[in-house]
Amino acid sequence: MSKQPSFVIHVSAECYPVAKVGGLGDVIGSLPKYQHQMGVKTWVVMPWYEKPFMKKHRFELVFEGSFFQGSQPLQMQVFKEVEGVLGFDLYVLKIPGLLDRPEVYGYQDESEQFMAFQHGFLHWLTEAGIVPELVHCHDHHMGLIPFLMYHAPKFFKLKKTPTLATVHNAQYQGWMDWNRAILLPPFDTWKWGLLDWGRCINPLATLIKCCTAFTAVSKGYLQELFVQSNGLEALFNMERAKGHGIVNGIDSAVWDSATDPMLTSNYSITSVQRGKKENKENIFNEFGLIDPKQPLLVFIGRFVHEKGADLLPDIILRICTELPDKLSIFVLGSGDTEVQQAITSLASRFPGQVAASIGYHEGLAHRLYAAADFLIMPSRVEPCGLNQLYALRYGTLPIVHKVGGLKDTVIDLAENDGYGITFDRNDAAGVMEALNRGVAMFKTRGKLGQLRKKMMQLDFSWDKSAAEYIALYKRLIEDK
Ligand code: ADP
Ligand code: GLC
Repeated sequence: MSKQPSFVIHVSAECYPVAKVGGLGDVIGSLPKYQHQMGVKTWVVMPWYEKPFMKKHRFELVFEGSFFQGSQPLQMQVFKEVEGVLGFDLYVLKIPGLLDRPEVYGYQDESEQFMAFQHGFLHWLTEAGIVPELVHCHDHHMGLIPFLMYHAPKFFKLKKTPTLATVHNAQYQGWMDWNRAILLPPFDTWKWGLLDWGRCINPLATLIKCCTAFTAVSKGYLQELFVQSNGLEALFNMERAKGHGIVNGIDSAVWDSATDPMLTSNYSITSVQRGKKENKENIFNEFGLIDPKQPLLVFIGRFVHEKGADLLPDIILRICTELPDKLSIFVLGSGDTEVQQAITSLASRFPGQVAASIGYHEGLAHRLYAAADFLIMPSRVEPCGLNQLYALRYGTLPIVHKVGGLKDTVIDLAENDGYGITFDRNDAAGVMEALNRGVAMFKTRGKLGQLRKKMMQLDFSWDKSAAEYIALYKRLIEDK
């Protein structure tokens, strides 16, 4: 029997609680922790951001160097978090002017930003003689790393190290014009085709072509990638033998209603009815919702097409006109300005029934999972989805479109052992039908109490999936 992998590095643009924009941050803040507990030395390496975490925690300088990005000399520093507060080793890479910014995404020179990170990361490993057993690259921001390890002479010390790519969301691919190629470190030019997809540099496509293996964040999403992946269908089919589906888990220590410091009132399985009632009353009082005896429906997420956020205004209007006095609504999120405006004006038009908070508020999200009766996810694309898992953990019934990871993780109440509501028709009418099922269920209180207990007992922690990742690492390391 061969031994466990002993040293793996995750590279990612996000990691909770250092910097989180969505589920990628949650995964990188938790999977490595579970792997570390399972005996694998696990590092996370990410860009340095101007975030409160950096000020609150102590970092030591472990490396300093410089390299050229095109004709521009870049100074880089690598810092290690000293106390190990995250349960794994955290390293952050700082480059003045590129990797020292307040936000993770949204800058015009995003390709330069992430190219500099990837080059800097490999420069550090090569110069410092660090050779991990495997490098685990997350999403397109880290998409050029396997290409550079295998085809840029500067990093040949890492040529034999296997790489695993995880696709969290293939909607985003990091496309850049071919004129950016000049910014890359020298590579075997006759391998240029590995960078190309559709006559531009496509880092996600490059990642899939060059990695030793790739995973999608649920089995359902892996199947979807072959038929619907924003232009990469043919590529995923060509590389299908390298693909695996491993569903995300959650950090059940962070997401524990009995200890979560962000909740107004903590509760366990035995006190779920009381706990949810108290959290709900608190939200109702603070946001001017009138009747806490009505079920509370919440949406938490980015207002983008893939999340079906554009459907919300119509759904809310129909709830307020077709189901008055039957359902209260809370929307937390931001994104598309039209959706933001429509939701804000619905909240002013139906003040006691609809509340909204536009923005990103970690604490409020926790309080809403605890306070809500139902969580709605009308996603068009959902590679895994973590919201539904947090909802279940806090005894909140997920009402979800049957797609990707939602299909894999939520079993409809109509089936044996079901614990959620799923719907096929993702438009306002389809969602209303599903909501009516929820409202009917809410009336049978005893049944709801039982269901809440059942939801909270489900185990979506990382235990199983972290072990699956480790088994896959082991195979890739042995086969290298
Ligand atoms: P995605 O990564 O596609 O946005 P996920 O379901 O994987 O979707 O993860 C979303 C994560 O971001 C969850 O932790 C969710 O609670 C959180 N989240 C999303 N929007 C907000 C918001 N406006 N405020 C606070 N947390 C949010
Ligand atoms: C992406 C996906 C989401 C998934 C998350 C973590 O942001 O949109 O479905 O849960 O990554 O893997």
